[in-house]
Amino acid sequence: MKKEIKVSASILCADFTKLGDEIKKCEDAGVDMLHVDIMDGHFVPVTSIGETIVQAIRPITKLQIDTHLMVENPSMQIDNFINAGADIVSIHVECYGKRKTNCQRPEQFPKEIEHFDIEAATKDVLKIKSKGKKAFMVINPGTPLCLDSLIKDIDGVLIMSVNPGFARQKFMPEVLSKVQELRKIFDGDIAIDGGVKEDTAPLAVKAGVNILATASYFFGATDQKKVVSYLRNLKV
Ligand code: DX5
Ligand code: ZN
Repeated sequence: MKKEIKVSASILCADFTKLGDEIKKCEDAGVDMLHVDIMDGHFVPVTSIGETIVQAIRPITKLQIDTHLMVENPSMQIDNFINAGADIVSIHVECYGKRKTNCQRPEQFPKEIEHFDIEAATKDVLKIKSKGKKAFMVINPGTPLCLDSLIKDIDGVLIMSVNPGFARQKFMPEVLSKVQELRKIFDGDIAIDGGVKEDTAPLAVKAGVNILATASYFFGATDQKKVVSYLRNLKV
């Protein structure tokens, strides 16, 4: 069945000195949800924000909040983000399993794994769902599709189209084949994150994506309403 396209505004590029106004701007522009990038300086090279900010924005908006956990130990943090008000908890495949030798040292990125520990990930997915929240698995550009039996338990998959850590990076078109492959076997949400712009969003939608996360394109636009309506009306 054809899915409606949703726009998820990543607040990483919002002006944090007036976050309340920025959230209001997202609502006025008609975005469907907020994407909140949580970075711990271990799974990715930099830190961003934590549950305090999720807690602060929860009472001021009815928009769904997706917390994209770029943290080394998601298991330990899931409850914090759910208690803070997250509706969707997105956890990385690369946090479950033995790290490849080329990214075992703290300063080596992106983090990748030799083998996906599906049992450990399933436990966390079921934990998120038992609290009535949606669970998405996130897959880095260098990680193949490896969800196997987990696919029946998850609500969505977030395909990274850049290596996580920073906004304003270049979209990696090579991840589109993963989207196509996944869409053949998965009817849930497929989101994409990183470098989504006017020219790359149509490629993602054509491949099977139905949620477009955007930070710099959305927050950098002079007419944010126009951005949302452009993205939402892209044809499959
Ligand atoms: C990257 C983050 C993205 C980022 C996207 O690690 O997960 O959500 O904010 O930024 P843009 O849209 O500028 O590529
Ligand atoms: Zn993100």
